[in-house]
Amino acid sequence: MKNTSSTFVSAKQKGEKLAMLTAYDYSTAKLIDASGIDGILVGDSLGMVCLGYKDTLSVTMEDMIHHTKAVARGTMNALLVSDMPFMSYQTSVYDAVKNAGRLIQEGNAEAVKLEGGTLVYEQIKAIVRAQIPVMGHIGLTPQSVNVFGGFKVQGKEDSQAKKIIEDAKALEAAGVFSIVLEGIPSRLAEIITNSISIPTIGIGAGKYCDGQILVYQDMLSMFPDFKPKFVKSYANMGESMSTAFKSYISEVKQSVFPDEEHSFKINDNILSKLY
Ligand code: KIV
Repeated sequence: MKNTSSTFVSAKQKGEKLAMLTAYDYSTAKLIDASGIDGILVGDSLGMVCLGYKDTLSVTMEDMIHHTKAVARGTMNALLVSDMPFMSYQTSVYDAVKNAGRLIQEGNAEAVKLEGGTLVYEQIKAIVRAQIPVMGHIGLTPQSVNVFGGFKVQGKEDSQAKKIIEDAKALEAAGVFSIVLEGIPSRLAEIITNSISIPTIGIGAGKYCDGQILVYQDMLSMFPDFKPKFVKSYANMGESMSTAFKSYISEVKQSVFPDEEHSFKINDNILSKLY
């Protein structure tokens, strides 16, 4: 079944949980999509897990379009959401609509995601008016890392928690079809989830959200730089990859690879004419 922004909303109405993962390239998107995931996000986390930046702030529209195009080619059934990078929507309503449109037209995304609450209300309304489905993102929003003073859990104080609830309601009023809740206490996520009609997708926000998302390199233990507390490892692919790389290197050095099985043959008559 093809997932859309509407099927996300109806999943919440039916009480069905939504599972999302990130992807940044064609072959991974194909594997994730074929596994039956509901949504794939081309996250600006690509800055950290693919491009090696210390945060997401250096990611550009060109980076996002390039990776979204690749993921779109491998995505058949999942809803494809693409992140709006830092400074692609904060600057003006015009920039927000223009850049959201580029992710759809050039990147082949089906929805966009952007960070912030009441501060980006006008931008979200305008993008929705342009007929582009928008996913919100509040709580520990990585593009605000310099304001937060690091990647710190948000909403532990009552004023912060109230502001996050207010942001969630503002996003719903602006017309988003879903909201990512990142890095907030699970009981706060529960209050938000119960007070809006659109699905919440949690990452480090506990079990009460309507759905969950993880960065795929995190859940496969492929990203050694940083391991957040909320990440569960479903496979140690990092270790499997290192073992495979080491075996390959050793076999090449010892002339074990390539063997007959992995080589092409030529007819002996033709071969004799070559000497
Ligand atoms: O960029 C990203 O991967 C995200 C998820 C963490 C939700 O925004």
